[in-house]
Amino acid sequence: MTEHIRLGVNLDHVATIRQARGTRYPDLMEAVRVAEAHGADGITLHLREDRRHVQDEDVFAARRVVTTTLNMEMAATEEMIYAAEAVGPDFCCLVPERREELTTEGGLDVVGQRSRIAEAVARLSAAGIRVSLFVEPEPRVLEVCAEIGAPMVELHTGAYANLEGEAAERELTRIRDAARLGAELGLQVNAGHGLHYDNVGAVAAIAQIVELNIGHAIVARALFVGLGEAVREMKDRMLGARRAMV
Ligand code: PXP
Repeated sequence: MTEHIRLGVNLDHVATIRQARGTRYPDLMEAVRVAEAHGADGITLHLREDRRHVQDEDVFAARRVVTTTLNMEMAATEEMIYAAEAVGPDFCCLVPERREELTTEGGLDVVGQRSRIAEAVARLSAAGIRVSLFVEPEPRVLEVCAEIGAPMVELHTGAYANLEGEAAERELTRIRDAARLGAELGLQVNAGHGLHYDNVGAVAAIAQIVELNIGHAIVARALFVGLGEAVREMKDRMLGARRAMV
């Protein structure tokens, strides 16, 4: 077991604030630099079909500015695969997307849409991009991810984040079991969605998890302490939880 765990900082909501007024500020690339200088191991941007926050030019700019790793989150559509091939991020995390949703609401249907997703994995892999599939912590789903040759999965922690008490514990057990199975299947196991400063520890403590992707809580905390401190605090919580398990 390694003490290290990567923090992928999702900066979509820096762009959300900019798009709310159509201004040039806050500068998303400045946010990239600050996050990287304060412990981000990677930067994640979700290019949504409706372009509600991140714009195409943001992802191209990030490709030039990011010195850690750039993870482009996107739907497995022709338009997005084409965009990823043009940008050349280090990683692509494929997510389901519905126009009217507030945020990503659940994992990919890799069982039902196996051939479509397998084709997206193959195309992005051929472009030299490491693909991650955002999925529910379900054994059959993980098996299919491995069968179609995806190198990574991101376990959806949104349900865990929305539950309390025993129900949250049960969901955490599902995430732990899925992380173990994913690692046994040879997948790199990441996790994310809905994580904040108070619920991150239990997930960061799961030995098989290599990276957490966290956005909303960090950008919200940045209002009070600044982005650098908000990133540092999250990373410290993750590393503290991981160290306590070693
Ligand atoms: N991982 C995935 C696949 C996501 O869709 C999102 C939200 O864009 C995140 C992680 C980050 O979630 P949050 O903003 O709740 O931290």
